[in-house]
Amino acid sequence: MALLVALGTGVGVGLPLALRSGSSLQERLIAAQNILAQVPLIDGHNDMPWNIRKFAGGKLNTLRALETGLQHQDPWSKSAWSHTDLPRLREGRVGAQFWAAYVPCGAQYLDAVKQTLEQIDLIKRMVDRYSDYLRLAVDAKGIEESHQEGRIASLLGVEGGHSLGNSLGVLRTYYDLGIRYVTLTHTCNTPWADCSIAEADPHHPREGGLTHFGKLVIKEMNRLGVIVDLSHASSATMHHALDASRAPVIFSHSSTRALCNITRNVPDEVLKRLVKLFSLIFACFYESVVSCARRSWAYRFIPHINHIRRVAGIDHVGIGAGYDGINTTPQGLEDVSKYPYLFAELLQDPTWTEEDLRKLAGLNFLRVFRQVEKVREDLRRANALADETSITNEELKGQLQCIYQERSAVQSVVT
Ligand SMILES: *[C@@H]1O[C@H](CO)[C@@H](O)[C@H](O)[C@H]1NC(C)=O
Repeated sequence: MALLVALGTGVGVGLPLALRSGSSLQERLIAAQNILAQVPLIDGHNDMPWNIRKFAGGKLNTLRALETGLQHQDPWSKSAWSHTDLPRLREGRVGAQFWAAYVPCGAQYLDAVKQTLEQIDLIKRMVDRYSDYLRLAVDAKGIEESHQEGRIASLLGVEGGHSLGNSLGVLRTYYDLGIRYVTLTHTCNTPWADCSIAEADPHHPREGGLTHFGKLVIKEMNRLGVIVDLSHASSATMHHALDASRAPVIFSHSSTRALCNITRNVPDEVLKRLVKLFSLIFACFYESVVSCARRSWAYRFIPHINHIRRVAGIDHVGIGAGYDGINTTPQGLEDVSKYPYLFAELLQDPTWTEEDLRKLAGLNFLRVFRQVEKVREDLRRANALADETSITNEELKGQLQCIYQERSAVQSVVT
């Protein structure tokens, strides 16, 4: 507690660069807290809403531990997947959080849209109930206002195009409910977009990236002001989305293939293209995409941040830890209370100026979000109409066939 009080008093006092070499961890933590008081720390991806559904049936009314500390409450305390609650978010100086309205790929063609609506409802009820801590944000201005008020801006993202039910009407309705990014795929193809798993497996059915309808999804997202999120997409999907989008895109939680060569990560050719649209990668902490291993090492993801910086530039990197959707975390960054330690660590590296760290924390994403809003306004002024196209039977057919094959294979095993 004494440490927290000490940290809280340093607001606005920058740590001169000269003090850095040989500075103690405590001095650097104070400097990190100062930076996160000046600009909101905006994290691109957190899966706690799914854990509330999984562990508590989506029932918030009896989940008081969200405010008193989930690390003392069964089954959260025993789960490797739980790293988030309200006091720890505050302790970690989180300024804005994208909450994932995620539902599993198994719900595709079944009740994915219903489950997604329930997750949106859950996030909104959480924000409502804990309004001392949280405030709903749907634009860049809302993030800055929340930060000034000392509340955590809560933004909504849908993780996985399967949640759209192949419908632009559903996409528009999500926007109206406050959704501000859609991850094009999770770990399954949709009938209009390939996921990273399809790229890894030569026998996996594939569309070759985005289909015609997939490109219309991108255009409609641009028109609405929904950010295109390419985490989990195949590289062909990444390239097609970069070709089709007028607005910046993001990777809400990804690492780099140069340092861990799996298809879940981003190749250098794509990193280089982020400059053009002023796009952004929120770097992920997950060990299996950071080090290609399941072992936890301290700060092994920092080389990924530095690689993105080298290839794409300092303006194109942020943090999307992926807490509550990962089951291993780097040593020293075990939960959401630990973000200042990451900044304290980077402060030891003289190539990171305080302005660079402000960009990493939040300035880069605020710029991305404002540009997405500007593209939306430009299209509105040009009277761009809502797209009323339906997905074609042709596009649906291949996918449905493969789903039916999978299901009948499962059935024949079961029976
Ligand atoms: C990653 O692996 C793929 C497939 O084996 C290969 O084509 C590619 O060159 C590798 N990329 C890097 C950065 O090592």
